[in-house]
Amino acid sequence: MNNNYSLMIHGGAGTLDHVKEGKDAVRYLESIRIVLEHGRYVLSVGGSAMEAVEVCAVMLEDDPLFNAGCGSVLNENGKVEMDAAIMDGSDLSAGAVAGISNIANPVMLARLVLAKTEHVMLVGEGAMRFAEHCGMERVPDKYFLTKQRIQQYEAAKRKGQQLLDHDAAGQEQKLGTIGAVARDKQGNLAAATSTGGIINKKWGRVGDSPIVGAGVYADNVTCAVSATGYGEDFMRTVLAKRISDLIELKNLDANLAVKQGIEYLQNRVKGRGGVILIDREGRCASAFTTKKMIHGWIENGGETMHRF
Ligand code: GLY
Repeated sequence: MNNNYSLMIHGGAGTLDHVKEGKDAVRYLESIRIVLEHGRYVLSVGGSAMEAVEVCAVMLEDDPLFNAGCGSVLNENGKVEMDAAIMDGSDLSAGAVAGISNIANPVMLARLVLAKTEHVMLVGEGAMRFAEHCGMERVPDKYFLTKQRIQQYEAAKRKGQQLLDHDAAGQEQKLGTIGAVARDKQGNLAAATSTGGIINKKWGRVGDSPIVGAGVYADNVTCAVSATGYGEDFMRTVLAKRISDLIELKNLDANLAVKQGIEYLQNRVKGRGGVILIDREGRCASAFTTKKMIHGWIENGGETMHRF
């Protein structure tokens, strides 16, 4: 068996022309590189794919550049409501949270749902109570409310729009949802996705990120997938599971599976977004319908790559 490790992360699909040049672009790429190097360390010393995707997702949630954790966008009430999920490909166990506020790292809470409950998903106040029960601290609103997020929300509200953090139609064209997929040295796969959702979204709206099979999926038999983009498009096409099925049922390789998955997204619902994938052999692949997607990868212990 191949006993190398692989890791792939994304910081959102979208139009990134505004950061193509200059120090903003460098900051995004630097952040992706640093997160990958932390993940590499975890995997290289024998850490599990689950540990690696959690570490990477937590670091991305802690970086205000990205639409997750402290960088989350605001809903129609000017509040942060976040979704996250994590899935273990070795036994198909999964944990997810949706519509949560005042939690710094939703992906950690999702993993606690997996580890400490009989359930897959907890939402809203119930999820927050569970967080408290697990000893997770509630962070104040001001932890999330940056000047940039408030301006972005007010602009969307004025125009009556619901936008991706990085939507081309928006005034701001920043990056969105974050995600990580990994294969550890034992051949186990895992995936994690975390997001603040879309700007000016309805109170209570849940996207694809915490939905197993839509925005996140992992199965040792096939692959691990994390998605980014307009959640509704990924929920309607159950895209992460569809891509896994393309590998299992049609025996497609990683590149062809993401290509055909994204073609389906485009053709059936004119879907906007992208996916990252690692297959059971540690091959990394990505595809997107947007102009760009910030992402990076380490394939079978090789060089650290990143691009948008
Ligand atoms: N893909 C993130 C969301 O739509 O919420």
